[in-house]
Amino acid sequence: MTDATSARPWRILVTGVGGAPGLDVARRLMALGCEVVAADSDPHAIGLRLSDVTARVTMPAYRADYAASMLRLCTELRPDAVVSAVEQELPHLFGLCRALADLGVALWLPGLPAITACTDKARFAEVLADHGIPAPCTVLPDQLGQAPDGPLIVKPRRGQGAKDVICCDTRAQAAVLCELVADPIVQEWVSGREFTADCLVDRVGQASVILRFRLVVKGGLAMVSQTFDDAEVERQVRAVLAATGLVGACCVQGFLCEGGPHRVVITEANLRFAGGFPAAEAAGADLVGQYLNGLFGHRIDHDRLRYRPAVRLTKSYETLAVTEGITP
Ligand SMILES: Nc1ncnc2c1ncn2[C@@H]1O[C@H](COP(=O)(O)OP(=O)(O)OP(=O)(O)O)[C@@H](O)[C@H]1O
Ligand SMILES: [Mg+2]
Repeated sequence: MTDATSARPWRILVTGVGGAPGLDVARRLMALGCEVVAADSDPHAIGLRLSDVTARVTMPAYRADYAASMLRLCTELRPDAVVSAVEQELPHLFGLCRALADLGVALWLPGLPAITACTDKARFAEVLADHGIPAPCTVLPDQLGQAPDGPLIVKPRRGQGAKDVICCDTRAQAAVLCELVADPIVQEWVSGREFTADCLVDRVGQASVILRFRLVVKGGLAMVSQTFDDAEVERQVRAVLAATGLVGACCVQGFLCEGGPHRVVITEANLRFAGGFPAAEAAGADLVGQYLNGLFGHRIDHDRLRYRPAVRLTKSYETLAVTEGITP
């Protein structure tokens, strides 16, 4: 895709191409005519093997030199924008906003409170409670006595990709799991139909929301998704977007609990494209195309984010690349 003022296609640096969100965003950007710099901190990341990308191994976000190395990479490759699919990078990228802008690199992030609300699950629970949005009871390990003594989930407070998310039946079991999971939270286990809302919020706060059920989830990734319409789910998702102050591409997750005390229960918001976002695109929503508009300060056309319900997308595993002659 070429913008109005540039003679060349946009060059976009996508981080986290080892996971489904980054990989599919990179592919979609290429399908839209962008040049992609595919980046990941794992040299074995799948997306580094995509053909026609410039591949780069980057520092992991927890390293003290992450920000400096990202700035060096942008100085070297001069992308027009950075799109991150790694939540723990976001606070560091936020700190680089000015320096990247000086290089002519666009970055589209909300303020730090919104970033914190989506990268810290304990903070997210507080924000939802403050706004009266139905959510599972969520406590820190030292508050375990306040958790219900029913099925519970122990998970990292700042996790991504459903890593180390463990179910258990009792508070006593949760106490043991809290010793095993790094920096954990304990959450009431929710039973119901799991959904994701793929969202795009523009710079004046107008949001498009595409709802889909997660029919088959493997390793935290929705392998089978099906779009649906539901006014109450949409209302609660919009309430989450307003309460957190998210902008840009993001996703809100929850459960539809027919017959429960709350029909809609919200569990998560992620400030990035969701792994299953291609289902929203398959249902007619031009998510990545309109995101590019917002990223570069153009108007987002929300009419192009309308979608058809009852569209089912099935993902599969595939062989992406075979490489010979690798030395250990
Ligand atoms: N309270 C809960 N009740 C029931 N299932 C849950 C709960 N919390 C998490 N899960 C299950 O675990 C999955 C991962 O949880 P969560 O989204 O909180 O973790 P994550 O590491 O941030 O993953 P993601 O990258 O998908 O956002 C959810 O998609 C859901 O299937
Ligand atoms: Mg998450």
